[in-house]
Amino acid sequence: MNSENFAIFGAIPEFDKPLPIGQHYFPSWERYTTSFRGIFERQYYTNQGPLTDELEKKLEAFLGVEHAICVTNATIGLMMAAESMELSGKVILPAFTFVASAQSLTWTGLDPVFCDVDPVTQQIALDQIGALIDEGVSAIMGVNLWGDSCNPKALSDLAVSYGIQLYFDSAHAFGCKISDTSLGNFGDMEIFSFHSTNILNAMEGSCICTNNDDLGARLRNIRSSYGAGHPVDVVRTSNGRMSEAQAAMALMSLEDFPSNQKTNEYLHQLYEKYLEPVPGLNIVKPTEVSFSNYQSLVCLIDEQEFGLSRDLLRELLKAENINVQRYFYPGLHHHPPYVQNLSHYPDRLPNTNHLCASTIQFPIGALVSVQTVERICNLLLRIHQASPVIRSRLQGTNCP
Ligand SMILES: Cc1ncc(COP(=O)(O)O)c(C=O)c1O
Repeated sequence: MNSENFAIFGAIPEFDKPLPIGQHYFPSWERYTTSFRGIFERQYYTNQGPLTDELEKKLEAFLGVEHAICVTNATIGLMMAAESMELSGKVILPAFTFVASAQSLTWTGLDPVFCDVDPVTQQIALDQIGALIDEGVSAIMGVNLWGDSCNPKALSDLAVSYGIQLYFDSAHAFGCKISDTSLGNFGDMEIFSFHSTNILNAMEGSCICTNNDDLGARLRNIRSSYGAGHPVDVVRTSNGRMSEAQAAMALMSLEDFPSNQKTNEYLHQLYEKYLEPVPGLNIVKPTEVSFSNYQSLVCLIDEQEFGLSRDLLRELLKAENINVQRYFYPGLHHHPPYVQNLSHYPDRLPNTNHLCASTIQFPIGALVSVQTVERICNLLLRIHQASPVIRSRLQGTNCP
């Protein structure tokens, strides 16, 4: 196999412009302008406007929840969640998640306790949580990763048995279901992200879902420095208000959720089919949910079988204009400021360490066509076949 065919050695890249990772849904320009014309006609930008109200009602109906409280982004949503539940001391969460999950705790004066994850599902390791619970722990933050779920029922049993609270960072899991119950209905509350990398996009945005009226009232009060009309007993307020522009985009995205989900599912199946014969590339499939949004194409690289390390493959694909990401990297216990406390985690998170070194994401979503998936998979097969030559040519260079 000839290595000259690859862009890293000077060939023309497979794609002429960079392919991003993430959903990146855009409505048609006509729908966008119609929707935004309404905002201009009403002359109403923010402060719980008519579009934000409409979005909240539609989300409550779509998810079957009592309260969908829309906010600026999920990081703020997670901070508001911790504040509204009056958490104290320590909160257990997986080490394999986005840094915002832990930072939301740090911002609210809480200490994260990192738990390892399951090596196959990549979700929090249920059997390791009990050993981390002591009298200083007030809650578990489950993280529903990659359009799958971390088993909220088992986590709920665990939280009840220890008398602690439970909530979920569901940034990746909008629209997913477990036996016909939509995520959003589990624990004390769940927080979705409407960042453009996710299937429901508000050009930044989020909603916090809860079925608890008291928590709903507290969240509405914390969301706005102006309070929520019926002030409840909360000490700290903030500004997490969603703007009308964000709500307009989210409403269009919600309308298109069914077709975007179908596209994702189809592309996911194509990747599974085309990568099946490529040794060492193992796609992570949703197993806990009965319905997935399939918004992420996550793949575990077995370096021995594939022939190249994850980081070397990433360099090759970058040269081909495929912006694959090593999401999440590093594990939270290696992330500032938590790395300073690394001695608390002496070799305790081997699965997280392994996933951080071998997980990669490929493009899927609204901007990705069937042909794009075929070209990416074909390229991956060619890279695998040429891996011995590639490795020897890159030895001694700056490539990882
Ligand atoms: C697991 C997880 N939680 C929280 C967030 C933060 O979401 P947002 O960008 O809406 O603040 C992200 C963002 O990527 C995430 O991946």
